[in-house]
Amino acid sequence: MKLKNKIIIITGSRRGIGFGIAQEMAKEGAKIVISDINQKECEKACKVLEKKYNVKTLAVKCDVSNKDEVDNLIQQTIKKFKKIDILVNNAGIVKFGSVLDKTEKEWDLTLNINLRSVFFCTKAVVPHMIKQKSGKIISLASIAGFVGFDNISDYCASKGGIIAITKELALELAKYNINVNAIAPGIIETKMTQAMLKDKKQRENLLAQTPLGRVGKPADIGKAAVFLASDDSDFITGHTLVVDGGWLAH
Ligand SMILES: NC(=O)c1ccc[n+]([C@@H]2O[C@H](COP(=O)([O-])OP(=O)(O)OC[C@H]3O[C@@H](n4cnc5c(N)ncnc54)[C@H](O)[C@@H]3O)[C@@H](O)[C@H]2O)c1
Repeated sequence: MKLKNKIIIITGSRRGIGFGIAQEMAKEGAKIVISDINQKECEKACKVLEKKYNVKTLAVKCDVSNKDEVDNLIQQTIKKFKKIDILVNNAGIVKFGSVLDKTEKEWDLTLNINLRSVFFCTKAVVPHMIKQKSGKIISLASIAGFVGFDNISDYCASKGGIIAITKELALELAKYNINVNAIAPGIIETKMTQAMLKDKKQRENLLAQTPLGRVGKPADIGKAAVFLASDDSDFITGHTLVVDGGWLAH
């Protein structure tokens, strides 16, 4: 087991990629903190993990755009598990709309949930990792941080920001033995992409741009996250691992 007894916080993990990461990490023996905007949903996800993988879990409601709730998430985790080995910044949203129509409020919402949250969560968790003299931080970027996608200017900016801050944090935190990396998924089947993938034409277009010829599954990202969380990646930091079925190979 690659993550036996590691304490792992995953934001936005009641479903989708976050829950996929939680499942793959639980299979490797980790103790998982599920956090999301709805406490009941977090508790449900924890029950599934406990039943399927026989691991210890904690459910904490946390809106990652709210600094007090982020601080509470870290405090609750320390109270229950005494340490934090790995933080996965996964929570994110996407809202479609032309830059011409997007309001300041909409822009701020996406940037606050997708990017400012990385600042809040990192700030709150790093003091504990410094005390332990080790830690790993993994953030969910996107191929939309490397190339443009129509009508999601705020989303692209937030994901490009994650790729940039990952490199900066890697430099700043290396002296504390903290590795900071990101994962850039391609198109993964979740609630976020559900509407696009239901539309036959859009699905065909997306698949045509994916050389491996299929949509990704949350487990595809979960397995990459296990690698970046485990000792196997101890000499990797500041890196964004692209998991996209070949999309960016064009
Ligand atoms: N699905 C894809 O194709 C894809 C591709 C690239 C990157 N990503 C990234 O992966 C991450 C997970 O996305 P997903 O596809 O699983 O989407 P999803 O919508 O299924 O899951 C996102 C989760 O984040 C939670 N969330 C939303 N706002 C939050 C907030 N303020 N505080 C805490 N949690 C909040 C939601 O409740 C949900 O559980 C996101 O960062 C997304 O940008 C997804």
